[in-house]
Amino acid sequence: MTAPSAPTLEQRLACWPKLQQQRARYDNITLAALFAADKQRVSDCCIEAAGLRLDYSKHFIDTQTRDVLLQLAEQAALPAAINALLHGDKVNNTEKRAALHTALRSTNSPLHGQEIADVLTRMEGVVAAIHNGSWRGFSGEKISDIVNIGIGGSDLGPQMATHALNDFNTQNVRLHFVSNVDPSCLQEILAHLNPARTLFIVASKSFTTLETLLNAEAAKHWILAATNSEQAQTAISKHFVAISTAVQKAQAFGIDAANILPIWDWVGGRYSLWSAIGLPIALAVGMRNFRQMLAGAAAMDEHFATAPLVQNMPVIMGLLGVWYRHFWGAHSHAVLPYDHYLRYFPDYLQQLDMESNGKSVSREGLTLPYSSGPIIWGSVGTNGQHSFHQLLHQGTHFIPADFILTLHGRTKNTERHCHLLANGLAQSQALMCGKTLEQAENELRQQGVSETEITSLAPHKTIPGNRPSSIISLDALTPFTLGALAALYEHKVYVQSVLWNINPFDQWGVELGKQLSMPIFHELNGAPTINGNMQDASTTALIVRYQQLSKPGKA
Ligand code: F6P
Repeated sequence: MTAPSAPTLEQRLACWPKLQQQRARYDNITLAALFAADKQRVSDCCIEAAGLRLDYSKHFIDTQTRDVLLQLAEQAALPAAINALLHGDKVNNTEKRAALHTALRSTNSPLHGQEIADVLTRMEGVVAAIHNGSWRGFSGEKISDIVNIGIGGSDLGPQMATHALNDFNTQNVRLHFVSNVDPSCLQEILAHLNPARTLFIVASKSFTTLETLLNAEAAKHWILAATNSEQAQTAISKHFVAISTAVQKAQAFGIDAANILPIWDWVGGRYSLWSAIGLPIALAVGMRNFRQMLAGAAAMDEHFATAPLVQNMPVIMGLLGVWYRHFWGAHSHAVLPYDHYLRYFPDYLQQLDMESNGKSVSREGLTLPYSSGPIIWGSVGTNGQHSFHQLLHQGTHFIPADFILTLHGRTKNTERHCHLLANGLAQSQALMCGKTLEQAENELRQQGVSETEITSLAPHKTIPGNRPSSIISLDALTPFTLGALAALYEHKVYVQSVLWNINPFDQWGVELGKQLSMPIFHELNGAPTINGNMQDASTTALIVRYQQLSKPGKA
């Protein structure tokens, strides 16, 4: 049984049928023809804000279509919804909370401004003590390695940003990230570290997440095993910092109250890199750069709040996604950063977008009679070109893509950087232009291939083209532009949630797996089924096989 159905998009948004008419217009128009018809197309389809430039000219959109999409946004009351988000309304209706990640990066937020400033000051203290060497481990040594233990939003954002800002890491500390409950994850990292010089950050908004607590417990044993009985007395306070809303739980774990930095329930896990959860970023690049990242995000917030919808970058990106999801059959969306340091950006976006908009009920709890968030995926260019781009070019799926290009290379080797950019631009162009059968035949003819072979080979070399992509370019990847980039996607996700009338700030779907895993864990360990709770036959068979393999002498 599912909940009763929510109104269709057509019932809720009166101009929906107009978009159907718009879609029909493109049956016989190519993307290249849109360029030919409008010499101003590039300047008309470019938005610059907060150090970023969005070029959406290679999309199935023109002034007419854009007007209808903007009407749709108005009918969905998007301007009021943006206001509600930024002014601290309880937009997370199922948990009755605000979603105030924007307050975290505002320098003068009327909402929680003092608490935010106080925590930034405390972060500053931790960062300074580690960097100036006054923070010492149990044997009096300075800290050289920081291990962040956290998962989901307590890992992906900090990890992504720490790698992205690698050039700004001038400090003498190395950052490591442990997320998986798989023991290999922690072991692999600890194998190379010296306990006397290692600081752990236990990052968990709830301080109940199994993976994080088990890894933190193992880290505690690792530290204590390296101490003598006197050192053990103070070792945990010297080697552990926690970030959580659950200060008492962190204290019960043994972490010193002075080493616990708070976050708040109005910060969603996947929106938390701007809070104390961003401590690893600040430890890597310093507080000044961390504040620059906040400033970049704040500049994007300002743009989102004030730019007219037609020139509003997150709004246009969100609307394009909705247009393709419903009228072009796009089930997925690729994100392709052409920058080695942005290699963790797609992973970060997957949680941000899919944990937010992977929903099938409306804000009111009614079953959606339409699709919601697409599958977000991608990886760094040019590597993807030699793996999955084949499907983007010639596969049967229609997949819009975002190319993220850093124009200014950071290394002295401008030649390779130039090749990197050329490849990113060429991929976007190839997706748009493709290659007709005739072009393929002519190319083969010029190569002296026989007519019989041309007939059999040319269809394989034909590329349909007309696959849309955006180019998001940054002059340089800096703390400021990275902050703006992450905030851009946060707001794009929000725009789409408003169009789909869903709550992007809860994540009930991830709870069931957590509930089911405990009885299975106990059964794997030989406990009888709890409350007569029978597993399915497939699960039972594997439990039995595991138990047989675990018998002494079988390992
Ligand atoms: O399981 C999903 C989730 O709740 C995410 O939303 C969150 O970012 C992650 O787990 C980690 O949660 P916590 O920071 O409370 O340990």
